[in-house]
Amino acid sequence: MVVPATLLSLIIILKKLWQGCSSNRHNFIEELFNFIASKTPSHNLAWDIGTGNGQAAKSLAKLYKDVIATDKSPKQLEFAANVPNVQYICTNPKMSICELEKKVGKKSSVDLVTIAQALHWFDDRLHFYKQVIKKPNGIATWCYKLPNINNSVDSVFNKYYNVQPDWEPTRKSVDDKYKTIDFPFEPICDNNNNVVHLVFQTYLE
Ligand SMILES: C[S@@+](CC[C@H](N)C(=O)[O-])C[C@H]1O[C@@H](n2cnc3c(N)ncnc32)[C@H](O)[C@@H]1O
Ligand SMILES: *[C@@H]1O[C@H](CO)[C@@H](O)[C@H](O)[C@H]1NC(C)=O
Repeated sequence: MVVPATLLSLIIILKKLWQGCSSNRHNFIEELFNFIASKTPSHNLAWDIGTGNGQAAKSLAKLYKDVIATDKSPKQLEFAANVPNVQYICTNPKMSICELEKKVGKKSSVDLVTIAQALHWFDDRLHFYKQVIKKPNGIATWCYKLPNINNSVDSVFNKYYNVQPDWEPTRKSVDDKYKTIDFPFEPICDNNNNVVHLVFQTYLE
């Protein structure tokens, strides 16, 4: 099969990302973590679910005393950065309450849960995870959408992006910016009672 060159480079980039090569990937910006940390009353324990190569966990480690970073994939965790107060743990996607309490913490023991670009794989588990979060319990989750460069670049990029049905159906909620997910939490509001929406723009080098 002849693979067009652009598609080939896209596959190589995606493969590198999957290998968790952090030098090829952006870091989430600091303002995001400072904002999230300002919303939890205490800063003892944060849990990053679907941590991958631990990028979010690494940032949380600067703001929380301890961080537990879990992923179902032992291969992903192999690429995670070694940080003294981050503990990486492999978990079963369908873990029981026993496994949850043993590996993560007892009920109401976690100050913050973060889920970065992974919730669409397990949003049906939010009620279950909620049990270990301290009151006022909440999670911080985010996803990154397609880049907008300009018409000439975007039209080529979108052509490859839209090669359906290669995307898993569950990934559609990323395109919907997670608006279709039913969160068992209250949204964060500003002083005028408007829901806070954070939109950050980051650049790949
Ligand atoms: C796109 S990666 C995001 C990784 C990282 N949070 C980041 O922002 O770079 C999604 C991660 O979710 C993990 N994952 C998928 N389903 C999971 C589940 N049910 N439980 C735990 N981790 C899961 C995958 O192994 C993968 O590492
Ligand atoms: C679109 O962006 C690319 C990448 O920065 C640039 O090379 C190209 O000249 C731009 N095209 C237009 C029409 O602005």
